[in-house]
Amino acid sequence: MKGKKIILGISGGIAAYKSAALARELVRRGADVRVVMTPMARQFITPLTMATLTKNPIAVDFFDPENGQWNSHVSLGLWADALVIAPATANTLAKMACGIADNLLLTTYLSARCPVFAAPSMDLDMYAHPAAQQNIATLVGRGVRMIEPESGELASGLVGKGRMAEPETIADALHDFWACRDSKLRGRTVMITAGPTYEKIDPVRFIGNYSSGKMGFAIAEELAARGAAVKLIAGPVKLRARHANIQTISVESAEMMYNACVETFPMCDGAVMSAAVADFRPETAAGSKIKRVGNTLSLNLVPTRDIASQMGRMKRDDQFLVGFALETDNEQANAQHKLESKNLDFVVLNSLNDAGAGFMTDTNKITIINRNGETTEYSLKSKAEVAADIADQIELLS
Ligand code: C5P
Repeated sequence: MKGKKIILGISGGIAAYKSAALARELVRRGADVRVVMTPMARQFITPLTMATLTKNPIAVDFFDPENGQWNSHVSLGLWADALVIAPATANTLAKMACGIADNLLLTTYLSARCPVFAAPSMDLDMYAHPAAQQNIATLVGRGVRMIEPESGELASGLVGKGRMAEPETIADALHDFWACRDSKLRGRTVMITAGPTYEKIDPVRFIGNYSSGKMGFAIAEELAARGAAVKLIAGPVKLRARHANIQTISVESAEMMYNACVETFPMCDGAVMSAAVADFRPETAAGSKIKRVGNTLSLNLVPTRDIASQMGRMKRDDQFLVGFALETDNEQANAQHKLESKNLDFVVLNSLNDAGAGFMTDTNKITIINRNGETTEYSLKSKAEVAADIADQIELLS
């Protein structure tokens, strides 16, 4: 969302308090935000709060009563890459649908040439009323993108659908819109492996690792946001995919992940192998719980199959394959070796020597090495930002 120009329109509903968090989130993601408020919105949140958060003056009236300076809705509408009205009250939606132009937000809407988003916010009965639904349908028919309200407790104390979507959901909708519109991944199908695998010792014990799956899930969300259909093959993790374009296939062991990948990869345009797959498993899993007898216990371990290598062998010319390398020493040389031996298009190297990189953290620091021997080093970033860097590199492949 870096550099995007967004008009945040605030109409007069109780959810206007959430507009502060939304403005903050949009600014945090790099957008330039200008706020237009209806006169009623001032009763719910002050222009001072919004101006402070966005570092831009707030427009409420057609002109400044002190100095007569004109707030041009036309130039505002032309300046913006998007107009997002949050909250959009029943009153404002109705006026938008009718083309009423009695405040600056409505005139801005009518003269805007950019995509328009609206996050309805009202009591459940108002939201369900045929008049409100018809206005929403009219606006959707004219291209307004509605960000659906959520169900839950409402300001009235009633419980139902009508609560404005959370600021993060609204910011995600804007992000997805741009990511998808500009992406070559739109309409492609991508397989992603994520998380650890558990290798059974007996019915209650396993060999596992500390992988949280956060990196793989972040890649899944980013590719889905860019319009790809994602098949996410996940080991045992505590995460849930959010995006509707993600189909999660849950597995436990390396063997199960291998089988799921062999079945799924042929129907995909590419794959990202980010799972931390066990390299060894117990040769046999005991049928019942192993008892504590004697002073030592030996487990005979045998190698699992290398899934990424198998995908490398199966890979067609029209498919891409991305792997990870988590290294503790000889990082570059080991990663380069993986690139070739597994037939990858590029390898994402993360070193356990870097603070904030690797398992369980919310951040990662990566280096990408491609088949042309080009090495790109990135700074320490959130896993969502790292996922965007990886997606950008995938887009360069196709
Ligand atoms: O050889 P190494 O395990 O370090 O390679 C890491 C890469 O290979 C990662 O992309 C990982 O997801 C993949 N891998 C795999 N199946 C295995 C082992 C690793 O897909 N059994």
